[in-house]
Amino acid sequence: MSNVVVVGAQWGDEGKGRIVDWLAEQADLVVRYNGGHNAGHTLVVNGQTYKLALLPSGIVRGKPGLIGNGVALDPEALLAEIDRMAALGIRVTPDVLQIAETATLVLPVHRAIDAAQERLRAQPIGTTLRGIGPAYEDKVGRRGLRVCDLAEPQLLAQKLDGLLAHHNAWFRGLGLEPFPRDAMLNDLLAMAPRILPFVGRVWERLDRAHASGQRTVFEGSQAVMLDVDWGSYPYVTSSTTLAAGVASGAGIAPSRIGQVLGVSKVYATRVGEGPFTSEVGGATGDLLRQRGAEYGVNTGRPRRCGWLDTVQLRQSCKVAGIDLLALTKLDVLDGFESVYLCTGYELDGQRIDYMPSASAEQQRLRPVLKRFDGWEGTTRGIRSYGELPSQAATLIEAIQQEVGVEVSMITTGPERDDAIVLRSPFAHTGGAAV
Ligand code: GDP
Ligand code: IMO
Ligand code: MG
Repeated sequence: MSNVVVVGAQWGDEGKGRIVDWLAEQADLVVRYNGGHNAGHTLVVNGQTYKLALLPSGIVRGKPGLIGNGVALDPEALLAEIDRMAALGIRVTPDVLQIAETATLVLPVHRAIDAAQERLRAQPIGTTLRGIGPAYEDKVGRRGLRVCDLAEPQLLAQKLDGLLAHHNAWFRGLGLEPFPRDAMLNDLLAMAPRILPFVGRVWERLDRAHASGQRTVFEGSQAVMLDVDWGSYPYVTSSTTLAAGVASGAGIAPSRIGQVLGVSKVYATRVGEGPFTSEVGGATGDLLRQRGAEYGVNTGRPRRCGWLDTVQLRQSCKVAGIDLLALTKLDVLDGFESVYLCTGYELDGQRIDYMPSASAEQQRLRPVLKRFDGWEGTTRGIRSYGELPSQAATLIEAIQQEVGVEVSMITTGPERDDAIVLRSPFAHTGGAAV
């Protein structure tokens, strides 16, 4: 099997970027297929931290990256990220990065709409305010601008007028200032010569990669619980985050998607609003946040913390077709006297073993927790399963059993090689590893 898709199996920030970076060593190509710079993927290599939002995470190893049509691309954010990478010694040239002609553009007006929508909501979603949702709304509303439009200045101006006619009616209706056109158009035209050399036929590149037997890693952003269909709607993002999004968001046959590797922390976090049944407040929640450095990569927002919810994870694995699991941040649980898994829910006094779909029901769920002994000493940097404290191994095995999916990797620190690899997803042949 030559392709692997990396998908967040919780609410995002599971450590997808560092898993993609690890897999990229054995791959020829890394492809983004959904989301935009609402993502923040962190890699730590020899003490140097790289924070990526739009660039595929293989770029740090010099592996070629593709940005698929399913990505919402803010050209300003992309150029700023390319410059940040250059300052860290990573040169991003058209030799290593190609952007789909049909990726939808995120514009300053989308950021303004995102902020206004959040202010107007009775119950805000807690978006990243990057304009991602409004850009996808324009895409499906068939008035969006696409990357290829940057090559046609006249058409670009016309399309921008159409887009602003639509949105400015809304701004005016709310008594807000209409969004000005000229600065936005001029900025786009000024950025076009830097963006256009990267633009190409991503679908064709992927077809060639397949024909020549190259290995591809598809790098998901966000996560199953933030998926627009399968997440805790409406507290979700606006794209298909599942591996199913790869086919339409990059341009390959569903049959070529390959292994789906779900990434989950051994505890849980969520940033933004929405139900989070196994959330833990007080000193324990604070300790998880502090030990796990749980603050947003781009927004700096503190993440809500809690215990691993195996009901959510099991269901997410089923709907997302997750074949294998990577469990991350085991070292964060070092020193806890007790750790817990949420292995069931109570809904209105009844025990249930699935996540209900209705938001109101999700909000009323109470966690059923199972206690496990913690461990003394540290798992930080451990690279072999046999060296884990027996209590940590017991926890991993319990997670595998509850979720019913094979654990193929466990990470024990943020550094690139702080990982126990039980079986590479590229070499997967089936059967339990732990
Ligand atoms: P992503 O969005 O899924 O790529 O994840 P983020 O980069 O937003 O968040 C993951 C955070 O956890 C980053 O700060 C990583 O450096 C860090 N991290 C990843 N794996 C580990 C690990 O095994 N142990 C610890 N302590 N930190 C980790
Ligand atoms: P990565 O790829 C965690 C959350 C936001 C908000 C909701 C909608 O780093 O895992 P949006 O701006 O997308 O309209 O916000 O989704 N969110 C994320 N949470 N990690 C992410 O990306 C996220 N991208 C969006 O906090 O709750
Ligand atoms: Mg992140």
